[in-house]
Amino acid sequence: MHILREIVDKIYQNINIVEVVNDYVNLQKSGKDYKACCPFHNERTPSFFVSPAKGIFKCFGCGKGGDAVTFVMEIEGVSYGEALRQLAKKYKIEIPESTNFSTTSDEIQKQNEIDALYIALNFAKNFYQEQLLYTDEGKAIGLSYLKERGFNELTIQTFELGYSASDWDTFYRTAIRKGYNAEILEKAGLIQKKEGKNEYYDRFRERIMFPIHNVSGKVIAFGARTLKKDKDTPKYLNSPETPLYHKSKVLYGLFQAKKSILQKDECLLVEGYADVISLHQAGITNVVASSGTSLTQEQVRLIRRFTSNVVILYDGDEAGLNAAMRGVDIILEEGLSLKVVWLPKDEDPDSFVQKYGTNATLTYIQEKAQDFIKFKTEFLLKNAQNDPFKRGEAIREVVSSIVKIPDVIRRNLFFKECSQIFGIEEEILIREGNKILSKELKQKTSTETEIFTEILPSNLQNTDSTEPSSANFSNSYFQEREIIRLLLCYADYPVEKDEVFGQYLWKELQGLHFENSIFQEIFEIFIRNLFEGKILSYHDFLQIENHEIRQTVVDLVAEKYTLSDKWFEKGGVRVPTKDEKLHKVAYEAIMHMKWKVIQRMIQENQKHLKDASTDEEQNHFLQIHAELKNIEREIASLLGNIVR
Ligand code: UTP
Ligand code: MN
Repeated sequence: MHILREIVDKIYQNINIVEVVNDYVNLQKSGKDYKACCPFHNERTPSFFVSPAKGIFKCFGCGKGGDAVTFVMEIEGVSYGEALRQLAKKYKIEIPESTNFSTTSDEIQKQNEIDALYIALNFAKNFYQEQLLYTDEGKAIGLSYLKERGFNELTIQTFELGYSASDWDTFYRTAIRKGYNAEILEKAGLIQKKEGKNEYYDRFRERIMFPIHNVSGKVIAFGARTLKKDKDTPKYLNSPETPLYHKSKVLYGLFQAKKSILQKDECLLVEGYADVISLHQAGITNVVASSGTSLTQEQVRLIRRFTSNVVILYDGDEAGLNAAMRGVDIILEEGLSLKVVWLPKDEDPDSFVQKYGTNATLTYIQEKAQDFIKFKTEFLLKNAQNDPFKRGEAIREVVSSIVKIPDVIRRNLFFKECSQIFGIEEEILIREGNKILSKELKQKTSTETEIFTEILPSNLQNTDSTEPSSANFSNSYFQEREIIRLLLCYADYPVEKDEVFGQYLWKELQGLHFENSIFQEIFEIFIRNLFEGKILSYHDFLQIENHEIRQTVVDLVAEKYTLSDKWFEKGGVRVPTKDEKLHKVAYEAIMHMKWKVIQRMIQENQKHLKDASTDEEQNHFLQIHAELKNIEREIASLLGNIVR
């Protein structure tokens, strides 16, 4: 299960971190770098940065950071090897068969469980596709059904649709024969155990298989539609919750839709698999489905990575109407703008687009799209008629939606609009809104700290893992930090003939020890490699297993966004800009560090002096004291006026 070093190198050489991250979030150019709202924690203003020059990402909100490989590991929850494999696939780098996925059950078992689940699901997807396209049963039952529904070959391919045979264990038998492990297949939700026996059968039988993909296109679950009409068979059977599949965090079709959502800056939201597929086939590709459940916060945040404009297409029935009233406050809460489109009675997006075609559908959406709050207001008002009690209810309902909107300007616009529709003074509506808000606040006093952190600007929330508590500012932390930072960034810079910066540092720092253990460890790793003739860069450190080291390295390399201000405040060594002389800055940092070390030694020596009981001992420590004082003076004069 080892990938050859040269292949790994090739993958690293090909990686463009912007391309990799862009598969998951909508990056915006910001100077030389890119930024976005962080996919690892919830935020509304971007503090997630990607530096193409440095090949790293870093979130200044939640502290996560690393290179492209780390990013894939974190966001997909996969191992280092699997992340490399995904990137190899993305960049069409072939991993030789012998080092690729092994197919003996023994080796599959050894893999990390998450990797194994992905591999099993991918195998299942391929298997069901083959069943659909190449078996008699699949063609006769599955394919003909899909054709009848108007799905063409490209669509079937795009959504990787498949078919599960009617036998009890067609999939199970094949998978076992190919070396897959039954426990993993069961964990992936593909097979089930026979009661009281150690035998299994297929979960999905005689159904059209709709693979459910995650944002990067990997299969994480299946929805499976029966072809039977009888009422006792549920229409759709879905994968159970698994370590990979959390229904509430997934939107069907997002992988296929994300580019188009970005381009159109709008996301259409429908209910069913068939709706997504039909619209997509008709060229309306910015569409996702919530898969029958009401929308969750996680799903909304997923959309928000790509756009802040949502249009919901509702079936024209009563059930859809009620669902609309309930689910959508979440969308507003997350700061997205929301419109609704009502389809004619007895139509769903699938039937509509198949009946009327692309242009008519687009026109319909455009003409009928109504702002959600306005829609809700008018709908409730119409229902209330002249009943004053119902009218009061309606007003409270609408106001409760408006106060969910985080943006003040937009919120006020809606108050204005709503006051016109109701014929009520804006002031009264706002007061009503405040009442609702304070009631909600009281209900969740336990989340007080959460509210507090939300008010703080994101740059004050930084939790920098390598930063000591303020009590420690007196030691040489900042000098040490600066030296390691320079080492990471400039180790291979030539400073003198035949000497690079890394060597210079090593010579200068001989005999010195970093107080901070992580810095010391980084330095030791560097020196060990230096002896072997290898000059490590921060890229090499980012591949080190130790998480703490990787995190420290990212923090240091990404420094320019965070620390420069603090540096000035604390009176440490300045952060060098590119134009500054590396040598000079490093020299200052080293001298500072040495000075601090001398201070420490003097202090310690004085303690010994105090404790000394004999004259001999006292003389010994006094002599050391004099020597240390000499060195201190020497360093001080070298440092000139920069000693603080
Ligand atoms: P629909 O009944 O509208 O399904 O349910 P559909 O996708 O339009 O399918 P067709 O047109 O009848 O073939 C909407 C969604 O609700 C979920 C599925 O995700 C479905 O796509 N659902 C529905 C289930 O999970 N289980 C069910 O039994 C029914
Ligand atoms: Mn349908």
